[in-house]
Amino acid sequence: MTTLQPSTTATEALASVLTDGWARWVRPPDEVGVAELRSAIRALLQRHAPPTLWSRDSVPFGENAMITPTGFVIHRLLVEYPDLRPLVLPPQLIEAVQSLLGADARLEILGTVVTDRRRPFFEWHTHIDGTDESERYRAGVWPKIDRLRRIFTLLYLDDVDADGGPVLVMPRRVGDSCRPPYDIHQQRWPNDVEIRPAAGTMIVIDECTWHAVMPMLRDGERIFVGAYFAAGDTPPAGWADPSLSSVPLTSLAAG
Ligand SMILES: [Fe+2]
Repeated sequence: MTTLQPSTTATEALASVLTDGWARWVRPPDEVGVAELRSAIRALLQRHAPPTLWSRDSVPFGENAMITPTGFVIHRLLVEYPDLRPLVLPPQLIEAVQSLLGADARLEILGTVVTDRRRPFFEWHTHIDGTDESERYRAGVWPKIDRLRRIFTLLYLDDVDADGGPVLVMPRRVGDSCRPPYDIHQQRWPNDVEIRPAAGTMIVIDECTWHAVMPMLRDGERIFVGAYFAAGDTPPAGWADPSLSSVPLTSLAAG
């Protein structure tokens, strides 16, 4: 079970992305607005009413949503609910992102992912360039990336316990090889880290960091708000939303 670290600022918490490839920013659920976020997303889910929350191949489903191997993905959460902006882009987060990626960092996309026990073990992968990992894996060619270019953030809205789909991360220092150190189909890797984020926890991962997700072993939904942030000189990923990425990060921050 994660313990709270009340005196840790976002900038302090996120700094370990550089040395470990991932970081955790823990805040109390009330401060994060977990209940408000969760009910907004559940209302969206009811409105979309997908027949399933998981599919081996991605299938578009209505406007701004897809059923995918990741889960039911609702892109552009802020288009649906602009009022959530202060909760998902608090000034402390923007400051921390800029300290990692530079003052001209930009938000590429922000959405939500809902899964349930239908999603099997989510194999080891990275999010390098936002390109299809299976093609890169087949080709066996891995880019040399020696600086932090893009991070993604996952704000968990449920207490993820042993049955709730823990996240596995393979620690990696910025500049280390991007090549997978072990078989991506193997559930546990030697020296991996198992993370069980409590509701309100934000997990932050470098695009090059290998990670996987254990299956959920109980009923119910597992919801997170996800976002990609990139350094200003990083070529935009194909899925970047111009309505976000063309706006300076500081003017997206609330408060
Ligand atoms: Fe991932």
